[in-house]
Amino acid sequence: MQWLDARLPLPRLVYDSFVAYPVPRNLNYAYTFGGILALFLGVQILTGVVLAMHYAANSAIAFDSVEKIMRDVNWGWLLRYMHANGASFFFIAVYVHIFRGLYYGSYKAPREILWILGVIIFLLMMATAFMGYVLPWGQMSFWGATVITGFFTAFPLVGDPIQQLLLGGFAVDNATLNRFFSLHYLLPFMIAGVVILHVWALHVTGQTNPTGVEVKSSKDTVPFSPHATVKDGFAMVVFLVFFAYMVFYMPNYLGHADNYVEANPLKTPSHIVPEWYFLPFYAMLRAITFNIGPIDSKLGGVLVMFGSIIVLFFLPWLDTSRIRSTAFRPLYRIFFWILVADSIFLGWLGSQPAEGIYPTLALIGTIYYFGHFLIILPVLGLVETPRRLPGSITEAVLARNAGGGTPAHAAAAPETKG
Ligand code: HEM
Repeated sequence: MQWLDARLPLPRLVYDSFVAYPVPRNLNYAYTFGGILALFLGVQILTGVVLAMHYAANSAIAFDSVEKIMRDVNWGWLLRYMHANGASFFFIAVYVHIFRGLYYGSYKAPREILWILGVIIFLLMMATAFMGYVLPWGQMSFWGATVITGFFTAFPLVGDPIQQLLLGGFAVDNATLNRFFSLHYLLPFMIAGVVILHVWALHVTGQTNPTGVEVKSSKDTVPFSPHATVKDGFAMVVFLVFFAYMVFYMPNYLGHADNYVEANPLKTPSHIVPEWYFLPFYAMLRAITFNIGPIDSKLGGVLVMFGSIIVLFFLPWLDTSRIRSTAFRPLYRIFFWILVADSIFLGWLGSQPAEGIYPTLALIGTIYYFGHFLIILPVLGLVETPRRLPGSITEAVLARNAGGGTPAHAAAAPETKG
């Protein structure tokens, strides 16, 4: 190690980042999802690379090549089910990770860049998942790609050329499949690159913690190993148990039966739905059924959908509160949980047909979503009276152990006792 360290200080980097690195002593399990995400990025890349050895990115045989993987390739069914369900579990983890950030004000100064890098990762994840879903060349793959690439035509002037560039022609076809496969292989490595920047930025600012009070002395922290490694490791194992349950007992539960029917450009499925993790955004897209001045409804829907993610970039500046952690903001806490409920509600609406009452409900959900970030967050920060903050992380932990805990202290890790 010393020999290597003198020539290339990699051992020192690993030691400083994952052994001696000080983490707040009161981190709870919400803080284990970053590690879980890193694990799942690894699972996706590993299973994906092996799947690609057997997959054929040609529209004439893509569907059959996937069936061959399922039936003839040794452990092929496992690879494919791990990859498909792995995508879902990756998104479950990222949603918990994002809402943890929203709850504990992780995006606030000085962690703006860390947060923005996270939003970029999220966008890359969505692009990767969308293109991956096209590869099995089933009915949903084909028609999902047709619908999504069709959005781009909503933009005046540049819309049509962009769509043709994406498709490699005028409709979803072999050229589309080829470029989507190429990009689906490339993007995870770009995600890995941005993750390195993300973790680098994290190590510059340090982690937040459930109290939102910054680290003040070495008493407030514990070394990453064994404390965080063991806790993250335990959370990973629990998460993997749920993952294994899905993979082995209900591998097609989150998929769509139509994707076991080969793509047919002459037959539109009665109900085109994206994967579950896109549903809230799909609901927002379809919520705009009317023209807004010169903007027609189609372009309006596309702008609202992209806007719902763009708004996240500005969060560090939209939140005006002096207090970081929602645990000390009794009023904001209520609105936080309404936002969670609103997002789930939008997700459910995205799975319903765009008719009857559903588009109106989606419009209400969409207005609330934007209202949360553009009105509630800036205004509440100015008018809300927060609860008294503990003097330090250690004080919060000790107060909790003495039995005088507040909900934020209750969120502290039990093993910090004593
Ligand atoms: C592949 C995806 C991702 C990986 C591997 C990843 C990894 C990590 C890790 C290891 C941590 C430290 C442990 C933790 O706090 O959980 C972390 C923290 C953080 N992540 Fe991510 N992350 C990912 C995606 C995202 C996304 C999509 C966002 C936001 C949109 C985000 C925002 C943050 C923030 C703000 C922190 C600091 C948390 C705090 O200290 O309060 N991350 N990330």
